[in-house]
Amino acid sequence: MGGERMALSRHGSSWDEVKSKMSALAENDFDWRSGRLAVYVFDAGEDVRTVARDAYAMFIAENGLGPAAFPSLRRMEEDVVGFGLSLLGAPEGACGNMTSGGTESILLAVKTCRDWWRAQGESARTEIVAPYSAHPAFNKAAEYLDVSVKRVPVSDDFTADVEAMATAVDNNTMMVVGSAPCFPFGVIDGIEALSELALERGVWLHVDACVGGYFAPFVRMNGVNLPPFDFALPGVRSMSADLHKYGYAAKGASTVFYRSEALREYQLFKFGDWPTGEMATPTIAGTRPGGAIAAAWAVMHYLGQDGYRAKAQIVTETRAKYERGLKSIGGFRFWGDHQLGLLAFGSDEFDMFAVAEGMRDRGWMSAGLKEPKGMHLMLSPGHAEVADEYLGDMADTVAEVRSGDRVAVAGGGSRYS
Ligand SMILES: Cc1ncc(COP(=O)(O)O)c(C=O)c1O
Repeated sequence: MGGERMALSRHGSSWDEVKSKMSALAENDFDWRSGRLAVYVFDAGEDVRTVARDAYAMFIAENGLGPAAFPSLRRMEEDVVGFGLSLLGAPEGACGNMTSGGTESILLAVKTCRDWWRAQGESARTEIVAPYSAHPAFNKAAEYLDVSVKRVPVSDDFTADVEAMATAVDNNTMMVVGSAPCFPFGVIDGIEALSELALERGVWLHVDACVGGYFAPFVRMNGVNLPPFDFALPGVRSMSADLHKYGYAAKGASTVFYRSEALREYQLFKFGDWPTGEMATPTIAGTRPGGAIAAAWAVMHYLGQDGYRAKAQIVTETRAKYERGLKSIGGFRFWGDHQLGLLAFGSDEFDMFAVAEGMRDRGWMSAGLKEPKGMHLMLSPGHAEVADEYLGDMADTVAEVRSGDRVAVAGGGSRYS
């Protein structure tokens, strides 16, 4: 953030002026509407965006901090949580909250687990055992909450190595983590085996379904044989699932779920020793944007199961098309067996950093992988229209790299953030 410091101008400007300044500022932003961006944005089409935008605007001033003042938001949050729980096989009595994003959902699950252990009366446990592929949000949570994370290398198929994780679990382990799917490789960990491990060793299993929570259930409804990954497995105590990813909601919306109210109790914060008396908040935020809650509720009602299934079908067909195209270009290796909307691949034959840079120069942007070296695509329905163009550019880029006309300059591939 090295720009010159601006002072607030004395006089305001007209909205037209402000708008045109904002459009000028956005000129160098990536044009995600073109379908050339395969990270950060989940594009389900103009109609879905309009629903999210209008719903957000309707509740832009309302505050989720005040459910007594805004019973509408309370009702919408309850509905959204209910939709999520029913999609994720949750038993009677399961519960949850809307949060601002995957990171907050994970942070809350870790805090809840830590405090649940503290309440067990034995010396509190403080370690999370997670696969190498788990999202950095677990480390962020650990730093904030003064617990630690032991990361365990993944198996040859890029899913969690459950045996190695079992070896890593000890008397200080409070939580084991599995992803459905993990971000880097896009594959679903063996949650069934992790559930057994959690039950056998009496530890908390959190399933991070930030990417898959509002996608995998519809892929399964479409007939794909996905492994079990949710509350249907008895060892799963909490889950995170992002609405602002494949739920196609406006940004600032995720859900965190618990198997029972007795667990969620440790998430809640109450404080009364100040002039206003007791204040109780379920999540990290105080003020909570009514717009984000309303937009999620509206998009879920707008799409319904059929709408989500149709979007999921487009995404999985598009992913399969990318896979076929990359196979026919040749020289690529896929990092895992992909069943959802993420695709991760590398190569034993050519330098993937050079390929990533070549694609970037041709106007495509996606996340990169450093270890193992590779590229990563997070596909939305919007990518269906550009698959042929992408594969054509990829074939040209690979030819350039193979011939030695292109070598990596930046040396690190593209970055996730
Ligand atoms: C698997 C997974 N978990 C957690 C997160 C964190 O979500 P957020 O960026 O909404 O905080 C992400 C983000 O991409 C993710 O892919």
